[in-house]
Amino acid sequence: MSITGAVWALLCNSSVSCHIVQVFSNSDEAPINKKLPKELLLRIFSFLDVVTLCRCAQVSKAWNVLALDGSNWQKIDLFNFQTDIEGRVVENISKRCGGFLRQLSLRGCLSVGDASMKTFAQNCRNIEHLNLNGCTKITDSTCISLSKFCSKLRHFDLTSCVSITNHALKALSEGCRMLENLNLSWCDQITSDGIEALSRGCTSLRALFLRGCTQLDDTALKHLQKHCPELMTINMQSCTQITDDGFVSLCRGCHKLQMVCVSGCSNITDASLTVTDNTLVQLSIHCPRLQALSLSHCELITDDGIRHLSSSVCGQERLQVVELDNCPLITDITLEHLKSCQRLERIELYDCQQVTRAGIKRIRAHLPEIKVHAYFAPVTPPPSVHGGGQRLCRCCVIL
Ligand SMILES: *[C@@H]1O[C@H](CO)[C@@H](O)[C@H](O)[C@H]1NC(C)=O
Ligand SMILES: *[C@@H]1O[C@H](CO)[C@@H](O)[C@H](O)[C@H]1NC(C)=O
Ligand SMILES: *[C@@H]1O[C@H](CO)[C@@H](O)[C@H](O)[C@H]1NC(C)=O
Repeated sequence: MSITGAVWALLCNSSVSCHIVQVFSNSDEAPINKKLPKELLLRIFSFLDVVTLCRCAQVSKAWNVLALDGSNWQKIDLFNFQTDIEGRVVENISKRCGGFLRQLSLRGCLSVGDASMKTFAQNCRNIEHLNLNGCTKITDSTCISLSKFCSKLRHFDLTSCVSITNHALKALSEGCRMLENLNLSWCDQITSDGIEALSRGCTSLRALFLRGCTQLDDTALKHLQKHCPELMTINMQSCTQITDDGFVSLCRGCHKLQMVCVSGCSNITDASLTVTDNTLVQLSIHCPRLQALSLSHCELITDDGIRHLSSSVCGQERLQVVELDNCPLITDITLEHLKSCQRLERIELYDCQQVTRAGIKRIRAHLPEIKVHAYFAPVTPPPSVHGGGQRLCRCCVIL
């Protein structure tokens, strides 16, 4: 076969992803360009990732046009190029993709700022997923631009965008009312006023990550329970001002909750899990779908709280994961209580220094499939709970 043009092998595996491999040199006269209609070539190109598209764009003029056609650029993840991504790149991409672009990840792209994101918002009005995790230059102004132009935004990650304030949340609540998943972890300037605005506007919220938002208090949870009945996942790790009161009211309003993380919420106590006070009733009646509960670092939780949790309907019929690591008051008695949780798949017990191997053996005899993660110091027994707060190393030994 005399090859004057490009010969490309299209290697498609059984899934939809295809890899194009350049075999020989190239020209627009290549047979592949003559035989296949443009629509079909475009269709093939649409399976390619960003890197491959950029390679194809350098092959020939015809392929350049095809590869850079906006219709190929519906999902873009630039995480692998984060240090190279300047604002201009984002602006250029947004002009090229326009309304085609639905998903963009700029995770870790530290140099991208508000001006480029404004151009982006104006050009890409159909964006649904936007990941700005770690884009520390981003401020409220980006959220204001998104609010003006991007009403279809549903998944938005602002993790570690530490300049974000309540103004951003207010803007999102006005213009991005379809938001379902929002991550505000470590945006520690936000307060309950911001969550109030957000919850009033974005009533379809399903997942909300608020790790390290240390200014939030119970009022934030009261707003969520009032306006966001669809909430299924909430992570409040290290929101130390949250108390039982807020936790209870959240459970009362958000009946679809499945995942709750209150890890490091040092003001949450047994009262949140106790029947006697009606919180367990809240959990078991109002959150019947609860599957995972993280109480790690909740230093006030005791065996008695777990007794209430494990005797509830949700404890017995739903609960799959309980994280109790760094709950120093937990003992083997907790494991006895958890035996009644038939669905339980995993328990985290790191640094629960009163739990023994014998206790773990007993629950494993009862629930053979269960994964128990714990750590035991090799020889000398760990210091007592009140022994100065020295932590064991976190190496895990999976029993
Ligand atoms: C953006 O596009 C302009 C105009 O097409 C071009 O001159 C410039 O080099 C591009 N910049 C980047 C960083 O891609
Ligand atoms: C951010 O929150 C979303 C849910 O809204 C979650 O899926 C994602 O894993 C979170 N990202 C990080 C970095 O925690
Ligand atoms: C939460 O606990 C800290 C100590 O860990 C305490 O200083 C603070 O006052 C508590 N906040 C509330 C609202 O109870």
